[in-house]
Amino acid sequence: MLWIKALHIVFVVTWFAALFYLPRLFVYHAMLEPADTAGNERFKVMERKLYRGIMTPSAVLAIGFGTWLWLGYGFGGGWLHAKLAVVAALVAYHLWCGRLLADFARNRNKRRHVWFRWFNEAPVLLLLAAVILAVVKPF
Ligand code: HEM
Repeated sequence: MLWIKALHIVFVVTWFAALFYLPRLFVYHAMLEPADTAGNERFKVMERKLYRGIMTPSAVLAIGFGTWLWLGYGFGGGWLHAKLAVVAALVAYHLWCGRLLADFARNRNKRRHVWFRWFNEAPVLLLLAAVILAVVKPF
């Protein structure tokens, strides 16, 4: 079981690395001068590779190994149910990032960098909640 938990935590870390980095790219992408077409194309490539190459595979593996722990070793309790609600919010945030990435890819983003700076803070709160629930198991 410890190998499964170790892999679970590794992919949670890589998932969060991307969940923190992609919205930060959106902040700087939204600050670009409209005339900077080279910069615009460069951000599109970086965002697409991060989302498809790291963020999504990490989410699938983190959730896969977590589910293996949950169902394979009979974990349960209020902490896990609350944690699954946090994971559902994380998946919704992940998919929202995918929508925002598509807006930038089609040059249809209307949001300003300040909005993305606030948007970038949400995963911090979700990380705090998930780790406290998983380690402390308060209920
Ligand atoms: C569907 C998704 C997930 C499921 C089913 C799941 C399930 C589990 C289970 C059953 C454990 C073992 C608990 C124990 O050994 O005491 C665990 C450990 C852990 N999970 Fe998840 N998890 C999921 C997603 C996440 C996410 C998104 C995070 C993000 C921070 C996370 C962080 C952790 C941590 C830090 C541990 C180690 C806890 C410890 O060893 O005390 N998990 N997870």
